[in-house]
Amino acid sequence: MSRRFAEWYDFFMRPLEKRKFRRIREELLSNSSGHVLEIGSGTGINFPLYNSVEKVVATEPSNYMIDKSQEKIKQSSVKIELVKTGAEKLPFADNSFDTVVATLVLCTIPNPNQAMVEMLRVCKPGGKLLFFEHVKMNNRFLAALQEWLTPAWKKICDGCCLNRDTLTLIENNQLIINEIKSYYNGLFLSVKAIKPKS
Ligand SMILES: C[S@@+](CC[C@H](N)C(=O)[O-])C[C@H]1O[C@@H](n2cnc3c(N)ncnc32)[C@H](O)[C@@H]1O
Repeated sequence: MSRRFAEWYDFFMRPLEKRKFRRIREELLSNSSGHVLEIGSGTGINFPLYNSVEKVVATEPSNYMIDKSQEKIKQSSVKIELVKTGAEKLPFADNSFDTVVATLVLCTIPNPNQAMVEMLRVCKPGGKLLFFEHVKMNNRFLAALQEWLTPAWKKICDGCCLNRDTLTLIENNQLIINEIKSYYNGLFLSVKAIKPKS
């Protein structure tokens, strides 16, 4: 993760966050409870939005992002513990979190399948998994456009893959999906799911 991307991330996201994303994040995160894990927390954009949870453990592999998120840790009303790690190998015990959160991150993680395996491993049976991600679009023309844009997009946006089929990844992991909400013609989805009890 580059220093420049970390420095400019909030600035470039601000118009989208103001128009729509903040409300989506607030609504999604209002479903979190107990001991929460957030993967790839970036600049900590979600930190001020957690309420009524016991504690948030946020993981992030980039030192630049970790530095940027210090301000948001101060703005949070709940305790945030930041752990430097990638999501493909989480340093936490099995079944240890009540809620696991991933926002705009499964597009960037080099091995998203392994990250999902880890998210499920550390989530308690019956625990919640909350996602807000951009995904491969259903419209064939737009999906082809995403495919075409991805090589340049990946360079500009520090590894972000515009063409990732993250909904299929979520659906293939035997979660109980309670709700899927679609935004911007299905470019962005929020998904609320549960890890089955057995
Ligand atoms: C587009 S930013 C999203 C940040 C934040 N989650 C948000 O909602 O705005 C993607 C984040 O994924 C992080 N990332 C990259 N590789 C990762 C990995 N292997 N595991 C977890 N996070 C990773 C990046 O450092 C970056 O902070």
